[in-house]
Amino acid sequence: MNASILATPSLFGLRGEAAHEKLLFVTDEKTAMRAIVAVHSTARGPAFGGCRYWQYDSEEAALSDVLRLSRGMSLKNAMADLPFGGGKAVILKDSSQRERAGLFRAFGRAVQSLAGEYISGEDVGTTVEDLLEVRSETTFAAGIPREGGFGGNPSPKTALGVFAAIERGCGLLLGGASLQGLTVAVQGLGSVGWALAEHLHAAGCRLIVADVDAARVAAARERFNARAVSPLKITAQAADVFAPCALGATLNGASIPALKVRMIAGAANNQLATEADGDALHARGIAYLPDYLVNAGGIVSCAREYQGGAESALVDAEVMRIADRVEALIERAAGSGESLARTADQWAREKLLLAH
Ligand code: NAI
Repeated sequence: MNASILATPSLFGLRGEAAHEKLLFVTDEKTAMRAIVAVHSTARGPAFGGCRYWQYDSEEAALSDVLRLSRGMSLKNAMADLPFGGGKAVILKDSSQRERAGLFRAFGRAVQSLAGEYISGEDVGTTVEDLLEVRSETTFAAGIPREGGFGGNPSPKTALGVFAAIERGCGLLLGGASLQGLTVAVQGLGSVGWALAEHLHAAGCRLIVADVDAARVAAARERFNARAVSPLKITAQAADVFAPCALGATLNGASIPALKVRMIAGAANNQLATEADGDALHARGIAYLPDYLVNAGGIVSCAREYQGGAESALVDAEVMRIADRVEALIERAAGSGESLARTADQWAREKLLLAH
């Protein structure tokens, strides 16, 4: 395994990203693994964030993704009052990688080489089975079912937190005591999107759904009586709420002018392509509940698992506090007149600074 550690802020400055504490570029010849681990901040504790396994168009795209994701984890963990900093990893997927278990074991050795500065977990493209391989090489990993029935796949907890945020946000901003009869457009029916759709359906919402996986769409039509639209059209649907639960940057210069919703709250990380897109939503009168605030349920679950476990009901209660933070954010923003996105960024940065 070859590893090199870079710590040149100018590199990150050139990329327009906030400075990261450390980047680890790591390869493993045997399994053709190429991975990047980004440690954005350890001010609040070890950098905690999942590992994405994804086929990128270029190495630059992978680097940009991991930098944005790890910075987001710093904000997310601070906002959730967790004693952890922000980090994230990406493994660049390609067709020459034939031995998945070995690949994730090689990644586990890379995580171990950071001696606890970074703790890994699931993200898009990784499964509990992958994390079990990682865990066979390092103790610095979570998202694994533990004896005593705690831990494991964090997605249901993420979905619970997003649902709680939508419920409180709608109650406060859309003037409804219940979600009954509201229409929610869900982009992405994966682990989180599907579990969120279950909650919304049970609460009496009408669902519009899109996924690039036709089988998931068909299943959602059947189970939720959902209306299916093409993935290209989901951002332009008339609905009360848009819930992005696929990949990042769906809120951008092209999609925002076409949005026909009153509120946005979903699981996807880095939903805003740029900070200015948060302002554009504000200017259009669309309430954007920041991704890193509403999607923290999974990291809360992983963090408590890593710390030795907590009963599922206790984790659920902690996840539900996301709704209280949504309410506090709305109050703060009303006081300042700033957008919800900028108000949340400011609040999270204050919490990060307190840790320094
Ligand atoms: P997943 O990989 O299980 O699901 C993603 C779904 O989006 C898949 O069904 C995929 O086919 C679909 N998709 C991909 N491109 C699409 C497109 N252009 N249009 C519509 N659908 C598309 O991932 P998971 O775990 O559900 O995560 C979803 C998002 O939430 C990701 O951005 C992830 O980083 C974020 N997130 C997930 C957490 C978790 O606990 N799983 C925690 C916090 C954030």
